[in-house]
Amino acid sequence: MKGRSTTRREFVRSAGAAAAGTVVAGAVAAPGRAATGRRRAAMVGTGHRGSGMWGRDLVLKYPDVVEFVGLCDTNPKRAEAARRLMGVGCPTFTGFEEMCDRTRPDLLIVTTVDAEHAGYIVDGLGRGMEVITEKPMVVDERQCQAVIDAEARAPGRLIVTFNYRYAPKHQKIKEILASGAIGRVSSVDFSWYLDVYHGADYFRRWHRLSAKGGTLFVHKATHHFDLMNWWLGADPVEVAAHGELKRYGARGPFRHSHCRPCPHKDRCPFHWDMTRDPRLMALYAECESVDGYHRDGCVFREDCDIFDTMAALVRYSNGVSMAYSLNAFMPFEGYRVAFNGEKGRLEVRDYERQPFEVAQQTEMHLTLSFGERELVAVPRAEGGHAGGDDILRDIIFRGREVPDELRLPSARAGAMSCLTGIAARKSVAEGRPIRIAELVAL
Ligand SMILES: NC(=O)c1ccc[n+]([C@@H]2O[C@H](COP(=O)([O-])OP(=O)(O)OC[C@H]3O[C@@H](n4cnc5c(N)ncnc54)[C@H](O)[C@@H]3O)[C@@H](O)[C@H]2O)c1
Repeated sequence: MKGRSTTRREFVRSAGAAAAGTVVAGAVAAPGRAATGRRRAAMVGTGHRGSGMWGRDLVLKYPDVVEFVGLCDTNPKRAEAARRLMGVGCPTFTGFEEMCDRTRPDLLIVTTVDAEHAGYIVDGLGRGMEVITEKPMVVDERQCQAVIDAEARAPGRLIVTFNYRYAPKHQKIKEILASGAIGRVSSVDFSWYLDVYHGADYFRRWHRLSAKGGTLFVHKATHHFDLMNWWLGADPVEVAAHGELKRYGARGPFRHSHCRPCPHKDRCPFHWDMTRDPRLMALYAECESVDGYHRDGCVFREDCDIFDTMAALVRYSNGVSMAYSLNAFMPFEGYRVAFNGEKGRLEVRDYERQPFEVAQQTEMHLTLSFGERELVAVPRAEGGHAGGDDILRDIIFRGREVPDELRLPSARAGAMSCLTGIAARKSVAEGRPIRIAELVAL
């Protein structure tokens, strides 16, 4: 599809094989390597994820293959703080064009708030750069089409960093489904539980605003929908959803601007003391004078317009239907997924944090119809996102050899996962099922 714009209809028609949503694995191509042989990387959005996973970690683990030439953020104090935390000497900018013009990067890392990804991806691809973007790729269908078209025209490629795929436990699920052990999958039950710590944290930050993160159906569930597209080797076709705000935002009994000066801190179960974390104080508290952004914002602010309780029914191109739910104030963190097949059922219960002991972090059972139940040995890995972060970075920067199903996710995979969430959000708003083809075709 390179060299011409993809029409909306063609894009939807090309939907079908999840393998099509990938690009060749291997170290990022280098349109203009520095004399040192290292990639010239620029970053836009220098907050927690940028300065950490794609900042300090790259500086420490990949100094031989990548060097930072510019950091850009609308908050200049945060860009400076990130530069110090990353331990690099490159210049910082508040203007993206100025950064690109002055530093001539060949690799762009996009780690801004979600709603700002699309503009930078399109601009970066248009300038011939290789672009790595954090999830979700985009937050609405208009942005989705713009990115798909830009990638089709550009010489470089876009990598959407779906780190969850790379966790060995998720690869195990893929392997069992692909082996045919449970036969053709007919339906899926998938429930994701965010606890009163991690789940609440979305309501402290910009994520509480639909205009910034597209609701948790997009911001968070993009991970889950990508996993499902990848596990099933299929695309979403239609989504019917329900969403409500039941615990946070205006549902709260009292509120303040943020936790540090809050008069309710002694009685608020969600009170969070950010002052204990020097890194977060440097990245956010010490930068508040520029944009007034509070990292420890009150979870009960009335401007919160996202859901904390969500359910969706998704129909896929291979006939599978999925019942999905996402809840953001659970007493434990983790998920449950079960694949119902014509020959049996694969059930997974993943425990990430809970106030009780568990025998193992991931319980996986394969039960054959008319047969027996088997406990599956699940590989474990250390590191961020159950080992997914390190594997993903190694594939990108070290050209780590991987089988076809682990090739790097492209714009198409980014789009298909986002579109499920965008359709869910639209379904809640309009009270009807939404076909994916309505969003990117016609
Ligand atoms: N894959 C994962 O597991 C994972 C984990 C965490 C975050 N993320 C993603 O990383 C991205 C950043 O998240 P974060 O937690 O670091 O948030 P953050 O708030 O810490 O950082 C976002 C930064 O973007 C900057 N910004 C906002 N608008 C901008 C604009 N128009 N131009 C330039 N900079 C702008 C902000 O000032 C801030 O510094 C998000 O898209 C998020 O979804 C992914």
